[in-house]
Amino acid sequence: MANIEDIKKELEKVKYPGFEKSIMDFGFVKDVQLEGNIASIVLDITSTAQEVEEQLRKDIHACINAIGLEVKLGFNKPQAPKQNSNSVSGKNIAPQIKKIVMVSSGKGGVGKSTTTVNLAVAASMQGKKVGILDADIYGPNIPRMMGLQGKEVEVIGEKARPLNAYGVDVMSMGVLMDEGQAVIWRGAMIMKAIQQLLRDILWEELDILFIDMPPGTGDAQLTLAQSVPVAAGINVTTPQHVALDDSRRSLDMFQKLHIPVAGIVENMSGFICPSCETESDIFGMGTCEDLADQYNTQVLGNLPIEPAIREGGDGGKPITYFNPESISAKRYMEAASKVIAFLDNVDDDRTNADIQPTTPPGVSACSTTAASASSAQQTQQSSGGSCGTGCGCH
Ligand SMILES: Nc1ncnc2c1ncn2[C@@H]1O[C@H](COP(=O)(O)OP(=O)(O)OP(=O)(O)O)[C@@H](O)[C@H]1O
Ligand SMILES: [Mg+2]
Repeated sequence: MANIEDIKKELEKVKYPGFEKSIMDFGFVKDVQLEGNIASIVLDITSTAQEVEEQLRKDIHACINAIGLEVKLGFNKPQAPKQNSNSVSGKNIAPQIKKIVMVSSGKGGVGKSTTTVNLAVAASMQGKKVGILDADIYGPNIPRMMGLQGKEVEVIGEKARPLNAYGVDVMSMGVLMDEGQAVIWRGAMIMKAIQQLLRDILWEELDILFIDMPPGTGDAQLTLAQSVPVAAGINVTTPQHVALDDSRRSLDMFQKLHIPVAGIVENMSGFICPSCETESDIFGMGTCEDLADQYNTQVLGNLPIEPAIREGGDGGKPITYFNPESISAKRYMEAASKVIAFLDNVDDDRTNADIQPTTPPGVSACSTTAASASSAQQTQQSSGGSCGTGCGCH
């Protein structure tokens, strides 16, 4: 008959998910008792992730059953962080918003904000209740693009009401700070600012909230994905190969954060001459099809370089609303209906747990799942601590 020492020996074989060390080596096994043929084991673990607990249950049962004992397992886990914490939270801080869509790009200046505005207006024109959150706190352009510059925000108690233009609710750092004011913020402050823009703004019930991200794949993106269940990501890129390389990083980030990709917008795809309406190829065209195939997603639309798009942005009059018969407006409308159709197939009950990186503490979100964490760790070690995706993991 097995004794307590035998049980401990078996537990030495159980590795903590994502690591090479065993739960005994980590000191996670707090108590082992044996009564009859029942081994009662209590573990202190540092992760709130369900996957970690499930994996441990499976592994412990397997090895203790193998020495002819039944198992009774107890877990002491950390409390889920408070709602206003920056760390991975089990709570959706904006529950009245049905679907959150993150508009992202690997590169700056490719047309994220322009795309966000026109997709949001197009979705609103198709009957959805839509909002835009301008999360580009370094260079908030949405107020200008939506014609809301200089508009006062109504403050109720400690919360602010979003502005509204063309049927779309809008909130941006750009309306909360003085025009032209430079923002030099550190990572932790960015996280707080973005979370406040979600929590302390009186967002109404929304079908879709589009979030215009700052360029890149760093802290801001990771924080957002950990604060709310992002239903879908959209990648905006221009067709040149150098831009596509950066897009891959942004698409990798969606994959690693378990965010379903609604599609890619190929912006500045060809040029439509304002006088003769012929389309010519400037940065290339159609290069996103292959990229979409690689990531098992679709191209939502090819938007040409059209002076009216830029004028609409600068003048606060989105082309989709003001010139709905133009080629570009029609493409935005088509892209928005693809996004709506995609969102209809994303589970309404997604919780944060569905989209969060499930890595144990000490393993970056970049290393995807616990199962592959150790190989990712090795990769990180050999690349000076970074996973190479620019996701801000070090
Ligand atoms: N298809 C287009 N045709 C013409 N001009 C465009 C088009 N798309 C974007 N622009 C213009 O290009 C400029 C950059 O676009 P935008 O600000 O949307 O890019 P961004 O990716 O949000 O930039 P950032 O990374 O700085 O936030 C803007 O002046 C915009 O009006
Ligand atoms: Mg922008």
